[in-house]
Amino acid sequence: MKRISDRMEEQLNIQLTKEAEAAQVFLAYGSWAETQGFPGIAEFFYGHEEEEREHMKKIMRYINGRGGESKFPSIPAAPANPENLKDCLNKALKHEIENSKAIDEIVNLAHEEKDWATFNFAQWFVKEQIEEETLVQNLIDKYNLASDEKENNENLYELDKDLATAPQEVKIPREE
Ligand SMILES: [Fe+2]
Ligand SMILES: [Fe+2]
Repeated sequence: MKRISDRMEEQLNIQLTKEAEAAQVFLAYGSWAETQGFPGIAEFFYGHEEEEREHMKKIMRYINGRGGESKFPSIPAAPANPENLKDCLNKALKHEIENSKAIDEIVNLAHEEKDWATFNFAQWFVKEQIEEETLVQNLIDKYNLASDEKENNENLYELDKDLATAPQEVKIPREE
């Protein structure tokens, strides 16, 4: 029996596609970083791409588990290459912030419909988005520390090496 509304099913399917789109964006940014001689940053984005695919599947399983049906429309093409590393990281952060807003849409609808199961499900994503925004913001902070506005300097080399093994998870203040 279906236990989500048609409207919620549609909203969740929109989010499913957004997660697939995010994976596409980070895959492209990883590939770009690789061609620019930043293998560590490429590795970071490839790892993050997998995270987004996991998010997509998490939503898919939830829709299916509630008796709905997951849909797989086409994914928009990846954006054009960033201008430089700073631009790349800024765009990645922007993408995460937009995704957080999309998650909020699900929370708002769940609240409106008093669909507490989906409300509860969506909370995992609310937390995940806080973490992901923090993660990318930390990278930007690191970049700003490393860079003296010149690309390809020694500090950027160190930053890149550092990111090759950077975790995809980050502690957020409320957990400490
Ligand atoms: Fe995601
Ligand atoms: Fe994300």
